[in-house]
Amino acid sequence: MEKRNELYAGKAKSVYATDDADRLILHFRDDTSAFDGKKVEQLARKGMVNNKFNAFIMGKLKEAGIPTHFEALLSDNECVVKKLDMIPVECVVRNLAAGGLVRRLGVDEGMELNPPTFELFLKNDAKGDPMINESLAETFGWATPEQLTTMKTLTFKVNEVLKQLFLDGGMLLVDYKLEFGLFHGDVVLGDEFSPDGCRLWDKDTREKMDKDRFRQGLGGVIEAYEEVGKRLGMRFD
Ligand code: ADP
Ligand code: CDP
Repeated sequence: MEKRNELYAGKAKSVYATDDADRLILHFRDDTSAFDGKKVEQLARKGMVNNKFNAFIMGKLKEAGIPTHFEALLSDNECVVKKLDMIPVECVVRNLAAGGLVRRLGVDEGMELNPPTFELFLKNDAKGDPMINESLAETFGWATPEQLTTMKTLTFKVNEVLKQLFLDGGMLLVDYKLEFGLFHGDVVLGDEFSPDGCRLWDKDTREKMDKDRFRQGLGGVIEAYEEVGKRLGMRFD
């Protein structure tokens, strides 16, 4: 597979075309951003850790029958994926209250959410990724009702797989964000699953092991990501 021109440089990854019109290369950079790109720093090893973390999780999801864009690891910082027409809607599931939900509703952080909640956000940094709903997504043409139904079903299926996976490693999957896209018309999980896009707490101490360490300036960000990976059986060397 031949790497061609850069198509897009996002906040954390760069996307490259390949000689296959249906395949892209994702390059995970060390850039770390929060607050819609307002806080940005370079964290050594982060690109490598997230690339390998994502490959591991995408493998688990594939085993569970979830269609994903992931094809293969290419190098420490790169992987090959199916080229998707991305749906500009972020799907968020929450098992415990944290972050935006706590700010919006004033509930206590750590409150158990039963059943888990499902929220939609428009992927639009300039507008601060506003919360939307299925009606808005349909009216503005961001996703069809059928696509939204599939996205919701798959997002909850991911929850069943990953909640247990992290629990087995002594961690609570607090919440996470997924992005989907279309591959020849089918809804497929895209982007990444890493501690950048989810919240993970130690089950016993509730210590934060995800990007909140960066958002809140707690330090030890990559050390925490690597610890999460090690608890799941990953190796980063
Ligand atoms: P952002 O765009 O939010 O700054 P990233 O830095 O992670 O995010 O950039 C990666 C970009 O690649 C995102 O816009 C994401 O939607 C897009 N993307 C992820 N997976 C695929 C895929 N399989 N096909 C096409 N685009 C993808
Ligand atoms: O992160 P913040 O508190 O602003 O928003 P949230 O709605 O509480 O985020 C819920 C989950 O989705 C967290 O795990 C975030 O890391 C993740 N998320 C993300 O990865 N990217 C976004 N643009 C928004 C949320």
